[in-house]
Amino acid sequence: MKVLIATQKPFAAVAVEGIRKILTEAGHSVDTLEKYAAQDDFVKAVAPYDALIIRSDKVTAEVLDAAPSLKIVVRAGAGVDNVDLEAAKARKVVVMNTPGQNANAVAELAVAMMIYMSRGQFTPGTGSEIMGKRLGVQAYGQVGRLVGKKAEALGMKVSAIDPFIPADKIRELGAEPAKDVKDLYANNDFVSVHIPATPETIKSIGYDLITSMPKGACLVNAARKEVIDEEGLAKALEARPDLKYVTDLLPDNYAELKEKFGTRIFATPKKMGAQTAEANINAGIAAARQIADFFATGNTRFQVNKW
Ligand code: 3PG
Repeated sequence: MKVLIATQKPFAAVAVEGIRKILTEAGHSVDTLEKYAAQDDFVKAVAPYDALIIRSDKVTAEVLDAAPSLKIVVRAGAGVDNVDLEAAKARKVVVMNTPGQNANAVAELAVAMMIYMSRGQFTPGTGSEIMGKRLGVQAYGQVGRLVGKKAEALGMKVSAIDPFIPADKIRELGAEPAKDVKDLYANNDFVSVHIPATPETIKSIGYDLITSMPKGACLVNAARKEVIDEEGLAKALEARPDLKYVTDLLPDNYAELKEKFGTRIFATPKKMGAQTAEANINAGIAAARQIADFFATGNTRFQVNKW
């Protein structure tokens, strides 16, 4: 079978090597399409392929239509909001992710961002410590739990909420369960967001939740840009000169926000949470194994668009 690694944001070379080794040993051929300039380049490249390995690359109905032999897409990572799951299902294309494989990298970045903001973005002046502060983790999945564990090790008091995990399970996993999302925002010095972008969560974090945070609080977003109501965020930062926002997802109006709010806001120029060699290797290798296994045995364990 023909496999294309299509990564606008490339994997580390060592990860590509590992993917290539697994798939060629299983009898498949591997090509790469990296750092492509426009979506159209991706659409034009996919025609001959039976399988795709992607990251945040957008697999739209147009991409699927341009690849008539396509049987499987593996998102090397967690979020599948970049794949048109229904369009894939309609064309009987299996979509998988590689849950947990890049989670540690994202969790480390979230913790680093908290410290960076507490120290005034490493500018001169008096900062504060995260030890003893309260952290609320919004969604206690693979990334959320790792953030919780690391924060606890650094002396933070960790609480969490997750619509799919009952309170007693959250407690068992080591965090104090919050009553609800409002309670999480109202009672924590930091809230770290780890929800996926879905119709229910898009723009769900806005003015009301942000301004309900305690004095000096900081909102941390290493999840998805779409879950923030950016207008509400700007209004909240305006209304509450003590609040801070740090994110791995560049807001639309970042230059303006930076100008207005200075060291109270920080965004990485390009999403880098999962951008470590280790995460690339873990997620890339998992994707390669899942594809090899799918073609060898029909294994669809990680399929996210079941039919
Ligand atoms: C994910 O959903 O796995 C993360 O957001 C990482 O995305 P990336 O592979 O595009 O960096």
